[in-house]
Amino acid sequence: MVFYKTNEEIELLRESNLLVSKTLTEIASMMKPGINTLAIDKRAEEFIRDHGAEPGFKGYNGYPNTLCISVNDQVVHGIPSDYELKEGDIVSVDCGTKKNGFYGDSAYTFMIGEVNADIRKLLKVTRECLYLGIEKAVTGNRVGDISYAIQTHAEANGYSVVRELVGHGVGRQLHEKPEVPNYGRKGVGMKLNRGLVIAIEPMINMGKKEIKQARDGWTISTADKMPSAHFEHTVAIGDQKADILSTFDCIDKEIIKK
Ligand code: MF3
Ligand code: CO
Repeated sequence: MVFYKTNEEIELLRESNLLVSKTLTEIASMMKPGINTLAIDKRAEEFIRDHGAEPGFKGYNGYPNTLCISVNDQVVHGIPSDYELKEGDIVSVDCGTKKNGFYGDSAYTFMIGEVNADIRKLLKVTRECLYLGIEKAVTGNRVGDISYAIQTHAEANGYSVVRELVGHGVGRQLHEKPEVPNYGRKGVGMKLNRGLVIAIEPMINMGKKEIKQARDGWTISTADKMPSAHFEHTVAIGDQKADILSTFDCIDKEIIKK
C-alpha cells in the first residue's frame, strides 16, 4: 500500500529530514584521517537525541547503530567499527532519524583528504545521478523515469548501477512502497502523484555492478573490490519540481570551511 501525505505531514517529514542533514553537517568536520567510524556514529546518535529525535536505523531489523558508514569498496550498510579513516578514503554516511512519528533518510559520500581524480569523478557523477533522478520526481511521471535518468547517466560515464538495493517511500515507516530502482525503463512503473514522498539513493560502482554481503549480515561491498559511491535525498513529488526535504547545502559549506 502507498501512503500519500498531507501538507502537514510533509512538513513533519521535512523536520526529520533536515535533522538528518544537520547531523551529517555535524559529523562532516570529524571526517579526517585517524578517527574511527564508531566515534562518528556516537556523535551522530548524541546529536539526534539532543534534538528530540531518535536514530531511525538503530534496531531496524536488528541494525546495531545510528549510521551506516561504508568505506571505499563498501557500497552501503557498513557497520561503524574501530576502523580508522585514512587519507584517500571515500566514506558513504547514511543517516536516519525519527521525529514526531516520521522518518528522515539521507546519505552523503565524504572524501578524506586528497582523493584520486578517478574516484572524485565517481562521486561527482553519482551526485549528478541523484539530482537527475530528482528532476524526474514530478507529478505525471512514473518511477521508471527516475530510474532511467539515473542509470543512463551512470552508464554513460562507464559506471554500473547496483540492482539489489533500491530507493523507497518514506513516512511513518522507513521503507514504504513504492520501490525506486536506480535502473529501469522510461514510462514504466507507478505514476507519481502529489503527496508521495520517496528516498532516491543511487549506489554507483566504478567497476562491475555485482555486490556481496559480508558475514556480519549487513555490509554490502562490490564483488570486484572497486570503489562505490552513494548519495540519497528524501523528496516530495511536486507539480513542476520535486520538493527536496533533506539538503546538502549545510554539509557542502562545512566541507569548504575545513
Ligand atoms: N538508507 C538506507 C536504506 O534505505 C538505510 C537503511 S539501513 C538500516 O536502506 F539499517 F536501517 F537497514
Ligand atoms: Co534509504
